[in-house]
Amino acid sequence: MNKDALEISKKVFSNYAPNMSKHKFINSSLYEINLNILKEKFDISHSRGVFTHVADKARAFKILASLAKPGGYIIYGDRNTYGGLQEMLQRYAIYYFVKKLNKKSKIDKVNIDEEIVNIAETLFSSDIDRSHKAIPRTRRAIIFDRWVIQQQDDPTVNEVLSFFEKEGLEYVSSFPSINFLGKGTSTVSKIKNLDALNKGARFVENLWMILNEGELENISSFEVLKDSTNFYKEINIFVHLLRNVKIKNDISINNIIQKINNLKVLSKEAEKIKLVERLKVFFSESEEFIKTLKTTKNLENLRKKIDNFKILFKGYAGVRHVDYVAYKPK
Ligand SMILES: C[S@@+](CC[C@H](N)C(=O)[O-])C[C@H]1O[C@@H](n2cnc3c(N)ncnc32)[C@H](O)[C@@H]1O
Repeated sequence: MNKDALEISKKVFSNYAPNMSKHKFINSSLYEINLNILKEKFDISHSRGVFTHVADKARAFKILASLAKPGGYIIYGDRNTYGGLQEMLQRYAIYYFVKKLNKKSKIDKVNIDEEIVNIAETLFSSDIDRSHKAIPRTRRAIIFDRWVIQQQDDPTVNEVLSFFEKEGLEYVSSFPSINFLGKGTSTVSKIKNLDALNKGARFVENLWMILNEGELENISSFEVLKDSTNFYKEINIFVHLLRNVKIKNDISINNIIQKINNLKVLSKEAEKIKLVERLKVFFSESEEFIKTLKTTKNLENLRKKIDNFKILFKGYAGVRHVDYVAYKPK
């Protein structure tokens, strides 16, 4: 963390902390904290939007959990894999254009951050606008956080629940709620009911792909999807193909199109669901997006397509984030 950021943190913190002298700031990677003196010292340990950027999430979570006292709480939040799919499609497109417009030797040697910033602004300025409106920070900071930093690997809700289990924690609640589909905001669930939570989590993860207004939408009818085993299998393959895409990855466009086509067929399984129409639109727009990538060298052409989409890249910023509370038993 840079020194300015640390000073700003202290200033903000001092507005809320009655006695600043009792608080200590540690400027360190979470892997390098001296845990001997901090272990089980806190009523609450908290991390938000960080593990997405680290490779060994299980290790990071172990550290976070170790900081809370028995009888204390862990508050943890990150984006989830399925909700991050659109960001990964955007990332794939940006990196694809970087590779299409530049010689490989340039990509390897020259700093391409500025090129990524320009492509991101041309293609996704509306999405950046939404994000900017939701959380005030510079557009550049948004672009760096999302696409320039090539380590964005969102955990699945089930992965997070498995971290809880491994560390002996009990799930308390989450926002948005991962156990009761369509019930809107956070609801305290039965502790230890991991099986129900794991199943509920599947809906939540998929919903983020197609909701434009997040929790404000009526999503109860989506529950029928619980029988669509094949749909989940295919969507799982698709999101994991694109999870944590980097410039050096060579995932072919045809491979992506083939996966989308599997999903277009399978989404018929869910015919009864009101929202299935949206799923269909989501997958056909994804296909159109990827196909246009292949056929055009012109960023503006692709931008025109994006502007006409109804679902893809039209969700409002932040809905794909899930905050969880876990309890550490005494
Ligand atoms: C998306 S920001 C989240 C910032 C803040 N927690 C919030 O919610 O606004 C990601 C943060 O993760 C931090 N980060 C990435 N890897 C880290 C590591 N190994 N140890 C500690 N922090 C890390 C970065 O410095 C960055 O500030």
